[in-house]
Amino acid sequence: MVTRRRVLVGTLATTGAGLITGAGLLPVLRTATAQAADDAGPAVAPAPFTVKLPPLPVLTPYSTEGGQDAYRITVKEVSREILPGVQTKVLTYDGHFPGPVLRARSGRPVSIRHRNTLQMPMAVHLHGASVSPENDGAPMDTVAPGTARTYTYPNQQPNATLWFHDHAHHMEAEHVYRGLSAAYILTDDTERALPLPSGKYEIPIALRDARFDENGQLVYVMDDFRGRTTLLANGRPSPYLEVAARKYRFRLLNTSNLRFFKLRLADGGQFVQIGSDGGLLERPFTTDTVSLSPAERADVVIDFSRYPVGTKIVLETTMGGGAPGQVGNVLRFDVVRTAPDPSRVPDVLRTLPPLDALPKPAVERSIVFSMDEDGRTEPRGLIDGLQWDPDRIDQSVTFGTSEIWTVTNANKLIPHNFHMHLVQFRVLERGGVPVGPAEAGLKDTVQLLPGETVKLHATFDAYRGTYVYHCHLLDHSAMGMMANFRVR
Ligand code: C2O
Ligand code: CU
Ligand code: CU
Repeated sequence: MVTRRRVLVGTLATTGAGLITGAGLLPVLRTATAQAADDAGPAVAPAPFTVKLPPLPVLTPYSTEGGQDAYRITVKEVSREILPGVQTKVLTYDGHFPGPVLRARSGRPVSIRHRNTLQMPMAVHLHGASVSPENDGAPMDTVAPGTARTYTYPNQQPNATLWFHDHAHHMEAEHVYRGLSAAYILTDDTERALPLPSGKYEIPIALRDARFDENGQLVYVMDDFRGRTTLLANGRPSPYLEVAARKYRFRLLNTSNLRFFKLRLADGGQFVQIGSDGGLLERPFTTDTVSLSPAERADVVIDFSRYPVGTKIVLETTMGGGAPGQVGNVLRFDVVRTAPDPSRVPDVLRTLPPLDALPKPAVERSIVFSMDEDGRTEPRGLIDGLQWDPDRIDQSVTFGTSEIWTVTNANKLIPHNFHMHLVQFRVLERGGVPVGPAEAGLKDTVQLLPGETVKLHATFDAYRGTYVYHCHLLDHSAMGMMANFRVR
C-alpha cells in the first residue's frame, strides 16, 4: 500500500482544469505532467459504431433464502476486449467489464461477499444507498488483499438507480477508472405497477471515457481530463444498439472520473426524462438534452416509433473532447424492426413532498469546494480550505433532524460536483433560483460548475455514524476534496 500511495501521489502533478461554458469543456491550464502525458502518444481511436452495445451482465444470487439475496463477488484483474480485437487489462467485479448489474427490490436485503484478489486494499461503496456506516465502504475501512468482507444492504428506500464502486482512499480514482464499478438497480412495487417499458426494453447504459496506449492498455494519469478521449458505453467504444420502432427505457449512468456528458440525439429529437439519481421523478418531462456529471444518473424513455425502420440515430455528447473521428459519438441506435408497444409513460410517477413542505432545517451550513488552479505541480483538492483527514469530523449532525447545506464551487475554471453518502437530498436552488425538472427529484450528486452555488435539503434519520461527502470527480476526491460528517 505504501508503494502504491507513493506512485499515486507522484501522479498528482497536474492541474486538471476545464472551463465549462455553453460551448463545452475548454482545456485551459497546462502543466509539465499533462504535457508528458500528451507526449505519451495519441489515444487509439477506433472507428465509431463498429461494435455492438453489450448488455450489462446481470448478477445471480447464490442464495435467496431467509428473505434476502446473497451474492459472492471476486474482485480480480482480468483481460477483456474493449477495443475491437485487443485484450485490455482491467480490474473487475467477478471478471465483468463493463461492471455487472445487480437487481434488487425495496424491502428485501442484499448481502455481497467480496473477495479481494488484488494486490491493493479496496472498499466497496453502494452509491446513493441508505446503509449503516459499517456497510458504507468508507475510504479507510478497506478490505485487505487476500481477504473477504460481506456488505449488507437493507434496501429500505424507494426505487433508485444506484451503483457500487471502489472507495479505498487515494486509490478509488484509479480503481474505478480501471473498472471497479457496477450498477445496482433497486425497484419497488410503485415502480413495477407503472406501464413503463420493461424487460428487454429497459436497458442500463454505463457511460465513461478512457485513455488507451498504443497497445490498447488503459493509461491512468491523475486528473488527465484531456487524455481520456475514447468514449465507452457499456465498456465498448461508441457502439451501436439495434432497437425496435417503439419506446425504450434507458438508465444512463455516468461512471467517469472526470467527464461531464451533455447528451442529445443528433437529430435534435425529443425524449422523456422519468428519473434521476434517487429514482423516479414525480412527473416526466420532455427534453432534448440530459446533462450528467460524474456519478449522476438519468432515466429516460426514447420513442423510436417516430423513425422509419432503417433509421440510424446517434446519441452524442456536446461537451468535452474526444478522439479524432470519434468526438462526441456516444452510441448509435439502429432502428431495425417494428414491434408492438403496450408501454406508456404516465403523467404521475411517484409522489414527493413539495419543497416548501420539507421538514424545517435545524441547521444551515455553508461548504466551499476549491482546488488549486494556479498551475502548481501538486494541486490540492480542498473543502473549506482543508484536505480530507480521516480523523477529523468536519460537520456534526443531530440524528433525526434536517439541514440545509449551501455548497459553493469557488473555482474560476474547474467544475466540481457534490456528493454526500447516506442520504438522498432535494436541491432547493442553484444560484438563488429554483432548479429545473431534471433536478427536482431525489438526488445524491449535484453539479457545481465554476462559481456556482447550490442549496440542498437533507434529512438524517436513518443511521448514526461517520460518513463522507466529497467531489465525485474521483481524481479530485483522491487529491483530498472530501470531508467527514458525523450523525449522532
Ligand atoms: Cu460514489 Cu463516495 O461515492
Ligand atoms: Cu456515495
Ligand atoms: Cu472536483
